[in-house]
Formats: sequence, C-alpha cells, structure tokens
Amino acid sequence: MAVAEELRRRYADALRGEGGITRPEVAAAFAAVPREAFVASGFHARDGGWVAPDDEGFLDAVYTNDVLVTKIVDGTPVSSSSQPSLMAAMIEALDLAPGMSVLEVGAGTGYNAALMSAVGARVTSIDVQPDVLDRALAGLARAGVSDVELHEGDGYEGVPGRYDRIVVTVGINGVSPQWFDQLVPGGFVLAPVAHAGHHPVLRVTPGEGARGMCAAGFMAAAGPLGAAYPWKHPQPAGPLPDPVVMLPPRFEPPLDVFRYHDLCFACGVWDSRATLAHRGDSTACAVLDETAAAGAAVSSDGAIGGSGAHAEEYAARLAALLDRWQDAGEPAVAAWRADLALSGDPDRPIWIPREWRYQDF
Ligand SMILES: C[S@@+](CC[C@H](N)C(=O)[O-])C[C@H]1O[C@@H](n2cnc3c(N)ncnc32)[C@H](O)[C@@H]1O
Repeated sequence: MAVAEELRRRYADALRGEGGITRPEVAAAFAAVPREAFVASGFHARDGGWVAPDDEGFLDAVYTNDVLVTKIVDGTPVSSSSQPSLMAAMIEALDLAPGMSVLEVGAGTGYNAALMSAVGARVTSIDVQPDVLDRALAGLARAGVSDVELHEGDGYEGVPGRYDRIVVTVGINGVSPQWFDQLVPGGFVLAPVAHAGHHPVLRVTPGEGARGMCAAGFMAAAGPLGAAYPWKHPQPAGPLPDPVVMLPPRFEPPLDVFRYHDLCFACGVWDSRATLAHRGDSTACAVLDETAAAGAAVSSDGAIGGSGAHAEEYAARLAALLDRWQDAGEPAVAAWRADLALSGDPDRPIWIPREWRYQDF
C-alpha cells in the first residue's frame, strides 16, 4: 500500500477511535479523500516555518488531527484546512443523506467540501478570497472530485439555490438572513458563532433559534458576518498580569478539555465580560475588567487568579460563575438554547443568539 494511503487509513482509524466519527460513511470519506491534494503548495508549521510537499515528514504532518494553516496575512491566519476531528463532528452533525444539497460558506482548501461530496452530498461552496478558491479548484481536480461547485464572493449573500443544509467553516458573529431564504423547509444552518472569545458550533433553525452543538475555535469571517453588535463579549486578551489574588482549586481531577469548554460557555452566558485570555500556546476562560488587560482567569482545576486594580472583585465574580455552573449541574455546550435577534451592520444585518437558557436532557 502506498505511504499516503496507509497514513490516511491510520488517520481515519484514529479519528474514529477518538470518538469523532461514528458513521461508517464519514469514516470511509476520511479514508478515501487525499488531504495532501488540498495543501499541495504546503502550509505553515506551528513553529512558524513552512512545510513544503517535498519535505520529509510532509505526509505525516498532513495526516495529523491538526489545523493546517495555508495563508497568513499580517500575522493573522486567513485560510486553513480545519482540524479533522472538528470537520468530522460537523459533518456528522449535518446528518447528511445521499443527494442532499449543502452550501458551505468558507471553501478554504476544498478538503471539507470533498469529504461531504464523498458522503454523497451535492456540495456548493463559496469563499471570499479568489486566490484561495483557485487553489481549492486545483485541489479538487487533483483529488479527482468533479461534482463540487465553487463560487467566489461574500458568503453573507449565500449562493442562489435551495439547500438542505448550510455549513459555515469560518467563525461568524451571526447568521445571514439570506441563508434562511435559501434553506428548504426543515433545513438548518450549522455554524461556529462567536461566544465569549471562541466560536462554538451552533445549529440554527429558522423559526426555532439556536442550540449548542460543540465547543470549537475558528478564524473570524470577513465582512458583515463578522460585524460587531452591542452585547458582544470583549475580544480575547493577551496574557493577564501575574495574579495578586489566588483562589484555590476545586476540581479533582481537573476538568477535561470538553468540560472546561462547557464551563467557559456558561461563563459567557452569565457574564458579558467573559472571554478568553491567552497563556502561551493555550487559552484560559477569563472575566476582564474595564481595562480589558486584567481581571481574573480560571485553570482547569478551578483555581482562579485575579490581577489588576480590581483583582479581588474579579476573582470573586469568576468564583460566583463557577458556583453557578456547579449548582446548575454543570450544563454542557449542547444543553443551551437561544432566541435570535437581528443586529450587526444595519444595512446587512445578521441573526445573533440572545437570551441563552439551558435544559437538562
Ligand atoms: C477555516 S477556512 C475554511 C476551511 C475549509 N472548509 C477547508 O476544508 O479547507 C475559512 C475560509 O473562510 C473564508 N471566508 C472568510 N470570510 C468569508 C466570507 N465572508 N464569505 C466567504 N468565505 C469567507 C476564508 O477566505 C477562508 O478560506
């Protein structure tokens, strides 16, 4: 068996083993579609270098459960092949059946579109960057995928047509009303929508509102899909100053990454100053003071560090959020529901989740 095929088979098995893939047709798609065809010019390594196709280890790097950043402008990633386990979770959440029509907003490399096509969907994909689309077109041709339709433009407008599903693979602040017009009755939008510094994936259904699906992080969309609105949380902060107040740990063992995101989501619902604070390579759930450069942050063991002029106040505020989450039975991202409110750019508004509430299931 060729090296790429063997690596791809192991990669699909690993994704299935990690619980990210439960459906055989999704596993088959990951085992069949050559990811290397979609990053044929290479991608940025995590250490800032460039991974080129003739580098030793190129295929090993392609077949990892990692984001492959393909384009950076002024230090900000603007296109990538998303994390495979997240793509798998989203494709599963789309509940695709053969012949369904899907509009993808954020074509990027074209790999996710090819995976959905391999599952049997009729895929249309749009991207705002012409050079990215050219490369996606070439990637699809290299992979032998001929039935994906690509469009250039701002995904806010959608693409004229009728879709069973609209999947968004770039972080947005709200859902375009045009998408609701382009969905068939019973269809839904699956999208990473900004919430307290990250972009959890939500399922948004016309007339029903939004519900949480899973935690996620995505790069932010250009244009009206990324427009500000009055009740938006602060942007993620840089590292907070050294704490001057420390509250003790409370989770033994520490929360795993999923439960930690569940906690961050709830903090975002209950506190408009909640967001993320960067800490080296990782991020922490934080509540920022009015300077947006200090406040309090919590670790996965529940220890809270407060910094800045109001360290004590913000540490206590974050501790109260943790109490509330624990008293509520530690609701997961998927337990939350919200109504939608129209806001953003008044000329090109977006539907934004508002009034989150959780339910026990
Ligand atoms: C994370 S990448 C998408 C990954 C892609 N689905 C794949 O499989 O490689 C996000 C993409 O969204 C695109 N994008 C950003 N804002 C957009 C917008 N308003 N409309 C359409 N595409 C947009 C970017 O150009 C970028 O290529």
